[in-house]
Amino acid sequence: MFPFRTGPEIRRAFLDFYRERGHVELPSASLIPADPTVLLTIAGMLPFKPVFLGQEAPPAPRATTSQKCVRTNDIENVGRTARHHTFFEMLGNFSFGDYFKKEAITWAWELLTTVYHLPPGRLWVSVFTEDDEALGIWRDVVGIPEHRIQRMGADSNFWVSGPTGPCGPCSEIYYDFHPELGEQGIDLDDDTRFLEIYNLVFMQYNRDSVGVLTPLAQQNIDTGLGLERLAQVLQQVPNNYETDLVYPLIETTATLANLIYPAATDEEKRSLKIIADHLRAVSHLIADGVTPANLGRGYVLRRLIRRAIRHGRLLGIKEPFTPVVAQTVIQLYNKTYPQLTTKQAWIEQVLRVEEQQFRRTLETGERLLERILAKHPPMITGAEAFMLYDTYGFPLELTEEVANEQGVAVDQAGYHQEMERQQVRAKSAHQTLDLTQQGGQELSEIAQTEFLGYLHTQGSGTVVALFVAQQLVEQVAAGDEVKVVLNSSPFYAESGGQVGDRGYLATATARVRVLDVQKQGDIYLHHGEVETGTLQVGDTVQAQVDEDLRRRARAHHTATHLLQSALKQLVDPNITQAGSLVAFDRLRFDFNCPRSLTEDEVEQVETLVNRWVSEAHPLTIEVLPIAEAKARGAVAMFGEKYGAEVRVIDVANVSMELCGGIHVHNTSEIGLFKILGETGVAAGVRRIEAVAGPSTADYLKVRDKITRQLSNEFKVTVEEVPARIVGLQQELRRTQRELEQTQTELATLRVLALANQAVALGEFKTVVAEVPPAQPDALKSAAERLAQKIGGAVVLATRDAGKVTLVVAFSPAIVQRGLNAGKFIAQVAGKFGARGGGRPNLAQA
Ligand code: ALA
Repeated sequence: MFPFRTGPEIRRAFLDFYRERGHVELPSASLIPADPTVLLTIAGMLPFKPVFLGQEAPPAPRATTSQKCVRTNDIENVGRTARHHTFFEMLGNFSFGDYFKKEAITWAWELLTTVYHLPPGRLWVSVFTEDDEALGIWRDVVGIPEHRIQRMGADSNFWVSGPTGPCGPCSEIYYDFHPELGEQGIDLDDDTRFLEIYNLVFMQYNRDSVGVLTPLAQQNIDTGLGLERLAQVLQQVPNNYETDLVYPLIETTATLANLIYPAATDEEKRSLKIIADHLRAVSHLIADGVTPANLGRGYVLRRLIRRAIRHGRLLGIKEPFTPVVAQTVIQLYNKTYPQLTTKQAWIEQVLRVEEQQFRRTLETGERLLERILAKHPPMITGAEAFMLYDTYGFPLELTEEVANEQGVAVDQAGYHQEMERQQVRAKSAHQTLDLTQQGGQELSEIAQTEFLGYLHTQGSGTVVALFVAQQLVEQVAAGDEVKVVLNSSPFYAESGGQVGDRGYLATATARVRVLDVQKQGDIYLHHGEVETGTLQVGDTVQAQVDEDLRRRARAHHTATHLLQSALKQLVDPNITQAGSLVAFDRLRFDFNCPRSLTEDEVEQVETLVNRWVSEAHPLTIEVLPIAEAKARGAVAMFGEKYGAEVRVIDVANVSMELCGGIHVHNTSEIGLFKILGETGVAAGVRRIEAVAGPSTADYLKVRDKITRQLSNEFKVTVEEVPARIVGLQQELRRTQRELEQTQTELATLRVLALANQAVALGEFKTVVAEVPPAQPDALKSAAERLAQKIGGAVVLATRDAGKVTLVVAFSPAIVQRGLNAGKFIAQVAGKFGARGGGRPNLAQA
C-alpha cells in the first residue's frame, strides 16, 4: 500500500516537510529537562515550556524537532499492548505565537496524505467538544465528511503538560486498521481498530495548581506524532516492536536467550519486548547523564534496568546481557544521537555494574519469595513484602510482578504501613524533632529563621521557640539541653552535606553553647546546652558562630567542588556526585564511577586541585533562575529538588555548581588540599576522603610527629626510615629461621638423651616421656632417630598452649613384626576423643 519507509526516513521526511514550511530544525533536547519541576522529558514540547509561558524568548517563530521522550506512567502496559513504550520519539512542529489552527491542521493533513501517502479513507479525526473552529477547518478547509470528525471531551482532547503548565484543546488524527468494519458505532478509543498517530495541541492557556486556566499571551501550536506508531502503520507490522526501530533489539535479546522471536510463546515475546523497550530507554538516559540511584530520575533508571534484568532471567539468560543489548541500541541510534557513541563505554560499564549487583539481590529475593509462595498464601503480607524490600533490596514492584504471575496478590496498604513504621523508628532513632507532631497549630506559626550566615558570623536574633526533650517550653535554665529557634541567625544549619555551625548564643545573663544546627523547613533549630542563666521566649540573643570551625568547613566545601571538577576533567566527564560530607576536620565525596581510580589518577587529581588553589581563583556567588543557571552549565545534583531560584557557586573556568553551602572568597584560602584515600562504598560508587585548609596543617602535624617518632626510634633520618624497616624485617626473618633450627637441634638432643631411660617391654625397649614443646617436624625426626637408636618403641608427648601432641615411632624391627605406629596412635588418640594417624613407623596425633 505504501512505499516502504525506514524509521530514519520517516523521521527525516517529517523534519524536511516542516523545514520547507519555515520551521527551524532543532536537535532533540536532553531527557533531563531544564525545568526543575519535571523529572523527565515526556513530550516534544517540554523543552519549550518556558517559551510557551513567555519566560524565555522563542528560538524562532516556528520550530520542528524529533524529541526523545521517556514516560513510565504506563509501564505495566509495555510489551502487553501493541503501542506502549517507556522510550519513544515524538516528531513535532511548533508555533510560538506565529501560525495557529488552520495551518497546523492543513499541514498535518497534507503531510500524512501526500508525504506518507496514508489513504484519506483510513483517517479519522477528533476535536475538543467545544472547538467548533477546529471542526470547521477540518470540514470546510480540508474537506473531511463531518461524520468522520468526532467531538471528544476534556479527558482525551484537552492536553496538559503536567499538573500545572501550558495547555489547550487538541485535535487528534487516528489511523483505521479495519475500514471493512464500516462507519457505524465508531469508538476511536478502541485500540484494536484505531491508532492515534498525530496530536495537534492548540496551546493557549496556563493551568495553575488549583486548575484555573489563564490565557497565554500568545496562541501557540504544539504537536506530537509518534515515530514508532507511524512506523508500525507504514511498515505494516502488527505492533511498534516489530518496526525497524525496535526489532533489532528483540533479535539481539532472542539470540542471547536461544529463542527465535516468531516461534516464542506470548510470555517470552512479552519479556523480549520489555527488554527491548527498557534498554532503549536506559541507554538514552545514561547517555544523557542519569545514573542509577534510589530517588528521582536515578530511581526511574534503576527500576527500568532491574525490570529488564528480571525479564532476562525469566528468559533463562544466565550471563550479564544488558550491556550487549545496549550495544545494539547504540548501533541503531548513533547516527541520530551521536552522544550514544561518545558515551558507549560509560553506558556499558554502568549497566554491567548495576546488573551484577542486582543479580545477586534477585537471587536471594527470588528464593525467599518462592519459599513464601510455596506455602500457597492467600496473599503476600505487607510485612513480608517489606522485609523483602528492606532487608534484601527486592523492590515492591518485583514482588508484585512475581506474585501476580502466580495469581497471588500483595498487601500494598500493609507494605506502606510497614514503611511508615520504619520511618518513625528511624526518626526516633535519630532523635530529630518532628515539628508536625509537636504542638501542632502553634508550631506551624513559628516564624521562619532568616539566615544571615552567608555574610556574617555574628548577629542578633529573637528567641521564637524553645524545646526541651521534644516539648515546647517558655523558659530554659542552666544545665538544660535545649533546641532554640531564632527569627534570624548567622548559624548555618546542616544541609547539602555541610555540617551545622557551632558557637554561642548569649544574653546579658545567659549563655547557650551551640553544638549543632538542624533545619526543619525554614526553621533553624540550634541544639545545645544552657551553660549559665535562664533564657526565655522573646529574649534577644547575640549569636556568635565559632569562626575557626566555620573557616574549616568552608575550605572543605569549596575543595569538594574543585575535587568534583578535577575528577570530571581527569578521570571521566560522566562522574556525578552520589553524596558528600563537608565536616570541620575533613571532607568526604562519593561519586558514581564504575571502577576504582589508579594511584596515578588520585595523585593527578590532588595536583590539579592544588594548582587551582595556588592560582587563587576568586569565587562568584549569584542567585539565578534555575533555567539560566542550567543554561550556563552549572552542575546540579540528581534527585535534588531545587526552587525556582538557585544559588550558583562559580569558580570561573574551573567549576560551577548549584549549592546552598558556605564557601571561601578565593581558592587560595584553601591553602593545601590532600587526599587521604580512595575506596569503594557500594557497587559503582567510589569515595574520596580529603582534607583542606587548616585541617591539612593538623593532618600534616600528626603525620610529621609519627615520622619523627619513627626516625628517633630507628635512629636514622626520616628519609631512611622505609629502607630501615625493610632491612629490619629481613633481619627478623633470618633470626626466626635460625631460632627454629636451634630449637630443632635442641629438641633432638633432649630426645636422644632419653635413650638411657628406656625400659624393656617384652623383647623391645620402650621410651614413654613428656618433653618440652618443639616444632612438630623436629619432634618427629627426633622420635624416629631415638627408636632406631634403642631398636624399640618411642612415645613422646608435649603440651603447648593447652594442646597436647603425641608422637609415636617404631623401629624397623617392630614394623617387620606387623605392628603399625599409625594404627596404634589412632587407638590411643581415640580414647581422648582426638584423631591421629601416620605411617607404620611414625605417627602423630
Ligand atoms: N504535547 C502533545 C502530546 O504529547 C503533542 O501529545
